[in-house]
Amino acid sequence: MHSSIDNRPIILTGDRTTGPLHLGHYVGSLKSRVTLQHSHRQFLLLADTQALTDNAHDPEKVRRNVLEVATDYLAVGIDPALTTICVQSALPALAELTLLYLNFVTVSRLERNPTIKTEIQLRGFERDVPAGFLCYPVAQAADITAFKATVVPVGEDQAPLIEQTNEIVRRLNRQAGREILVEASAMVPSVGRLPGVDGKAKMSKSQGNAIPLSASRDDISDAVRRMYTDPYHLRVNDPGKVEGNVVFTYLDAFCEDRDFVEEAKAHYRRGGLGDVTLKRHLEAMLQPLLAPIRERRAFYASKPDYVMDVIREGTREARRRTEATLAELRQALGLFTLS
Ligand code: TRP
Repeated sequence: MHSSIDNRPIILTGDRTTGPLHLGHYVGSLKSRVTLQHSHRQFLLLADTQALTDNAHDPEKVRRNVLEVATDYLAVGIDPALTTICVQSALPALAELTLLYLNFVTVSRLERNPTIKTEIQLRGFERDVPAGFLCYPVAQAADITAFKATVVPVGEDQAPLIEQTNEIVRRLNRQAGREILVEASAMVPSVGRLPGVDGKAKMSKSQGNAIPLSASRDDISDAVRRMYTDPYHLRVNDPGKVEGNVVFTYLDAFCEDRDFVEEAKAHYRRGGLGDVTLKRHLEAMLQPLLAPIRERRAFYASKPDYVMDVIREGTREARRRTEATLAELRQALGLFTLS
């Protein structure tokens, strides 16, 4: 535990609780969170309220996955003594801040947000987008500012949300007459989004192209065997394409031996390196990476009461923080207070 004088920069990030996490989450964010928890005061938000913005028809799924995602966190090495894990819907200050911030954002600004525009298209909402979904960037601004986070690790697609958060921060501070809220910067991972094993845009559980963190040895072998390569690379001695070849994208993401990867690429391009051999290399990398995560996951999955205790304790700590920010803001804005 840390003393009360804690000058480390505050991190807030989180995940929608719509399903267990997968290898794409691991390379994209979980791995760096495990490192960052030593240098930063880190909060992880189990974003169940945000998950409801496009899953209101299935609240039971959203609730169930609160525990699943928390179990994933512990499995990859998030240490509850260093990182606070908390549940969004159990932090009423976030909802109050959202309602307040909504008055400082215009509808046209919300509709112009590039992240939201793309997501609305992807989901086929058109004009029938739930209001909660259109407004989730404002709720996310509430999440970030309530914790006074200055660093927000998010995927590249979420970067415009940080910009919108900072606009809200400036407006609220101007109205409050002092710097109560702090601006944040996005921390975008150096590796891009991992494509699905089928070579489609991104790994996602709903697309059925993901390798979950709980994948068994056989699941991993199967996934690698099914992995999209170069459909025109028919004979071993034919020249093959590296671009768009998922096996190489994964080797780039997981293999630290750069020389080995570069050599394999050259060999594949000129012909003579078969898909089976290539895939064997990747599998030899993935199996030892995922084995300890799978084992720890099974351990924590058998101890749901312990995981729930971690979540409860973290949520209590997060309540104190978020309520303090809300109280400060209410006071500065001169809002009504009972007592
Ligand atoms: N939008 C994030 C996602 O899609 C989850 C999230 C909710 C979040 N609140 C946040 C991320 C605050 C960073 C900061 O997974």
